[in-house]
Amino acid sequence: MVLTDEEKAILDGKSGRARQKAMDLLVRYGEALGADRLLEINNVAGGVPAGLPFLKEWALKAKSMDEIFSEINLDAGETVEIPKVKTFASRLINAMDPDHWQIMGVTPETHELNMKIEWFCNRIGMNVLNTCAPYQIGNVPVKGEHCAWMESSAVVYINSVIGARTNCEGHASTGSAMLVGRIPNWGYHVTENRYGTHLVKVGCSVESEMDWGLLGYFFGELIQDKVPVVQGIEKIPDLPRLKHCGAAAASAGGVELYHIIGITPEAPTYEAAFGPNKPKGTIVYGEKEKRETYEKLNSAKEKTVDFVMLGCPHYNLEQIMKVARLLEGKRISQNTVLWIFTAKPIKAACDRIGYTEIIENAGAKLMVDTCPAIGKVRPDGVKTAATDAAKHAHYMPPTLGFDTWFGTTEQCIDAAVTGKWNGGLYNG
Ligand code: F3S
Repeated sequence: MVLTDEEKAILDGKSGRARQKAMDLLVRYGEALGADRLLEINNVAGGVPAGLPFLKEWALKAKSMDEIFSEINLDAGETVEIPKVKTFASRLINAMDPDHWQIMGVTPETHELNMKIEWFCNRIGMNVLNTCAPYQIGNVPVKGEHCAWMESSAVVYINSVIGARTNCEGHASTGSAMLVGRIPNWGYHVTENRYGTHLVKVGCSVESEMDWGLLGYFFGELIQDKVPVVQGIEKIPDLPRLKHCGAAAASAGGVELYHIIGITPEAPTYEAAFGPNKPKGTIVYGEKEKRETYEKLNSAKEKTVDFVMLGCPHYNLEQIMKVARLLEGKRISQNTVLWIFTAKPIKAACDRIGYTEIIENAGAKLMVDTCPAIGKVRPDGVKTAATDAAKHAHYMPPTLGFDTWFGTTEQCIDAAVTGKWNGGLYNG
């Protein structure tokens, strides 16, 4: 890989030990991937995941946050002092809600660890957004901007809907990227790799957010990590629909970039979407495929619903408005818990507008910073859950052990109010 003089100087330690370690990691990473050079970047979305269940026992024994970051975010092999980050960097999702951690089953020890991590992020200049959807609250890259982002639902969103350029990075590559402002030039940074590989012909209605989750789940599972081009969508989908589609495709198969002809920015036409490629395959999405995908995501048998989870990926303001309207003047069942997840600035707007009050008066909770699948947080004694997110319907059964119903937002609110699942593919 060819390095600039500035990059060589950082690698030689002229900018301190932490940046030297970061550059060393990125050079090794780039060389392993066959990258020709490093790209200069200024937008990183990553995390310091030490509060998550799989790391917290180790993290609780660490002597300092520098030790944790050196190990997890730099793979440094020694503890180095972490300086201020060089780029605009935002922190992704956390492992708890700072105000509701007790009802989430988080211990005081883990709460304290999470707060220490947050203070550390502030110290090194990471912007603590604590959301899996930073593009909803102030970190919005532009078309063509090279970034280094983690979180599969966010990666597929900024690649596909915005036309920014990132691969699905990890904690070590984003930790290093934010310290030196570089990322290897490979994968979806390279124009040739962004052209479509497979055609998805849509031959049924794709209207609701649930429909968009089903479509994404369908092609994600079949196409895995290639680049699907969707044909046959006439009505322009809004942000929540595209968010659900990408999140589902990324969880079912690892899709990091998709195109919709006539809608997403790199696919004004069929020809532009495929560029020099000929489609390697064509798959058809009709009524039969839609129903089969729906049945795959509805693993539950028991109609009684104990837990309804909304906000995967984190809800935007419009989605919370919709929920508040559905809940206004109602009470949720005393046998059901309804948790709705968003980012803190969106909740602040909801507090001001009055949506939080409506939600709380109905007996539900509007939560921030985390989600059940990532934080492994849950109400006690849940057996059967319901969600409007294909991504969560995919992850909840294996990670949290709940049988899960998947449906529209309206069906989920009905389940929270009645305590029963009355949903179906075509009944609202
Ligand atoms: Fe976000 Fe958690 Fe879903 S991180 S995308 S709400 S699984």
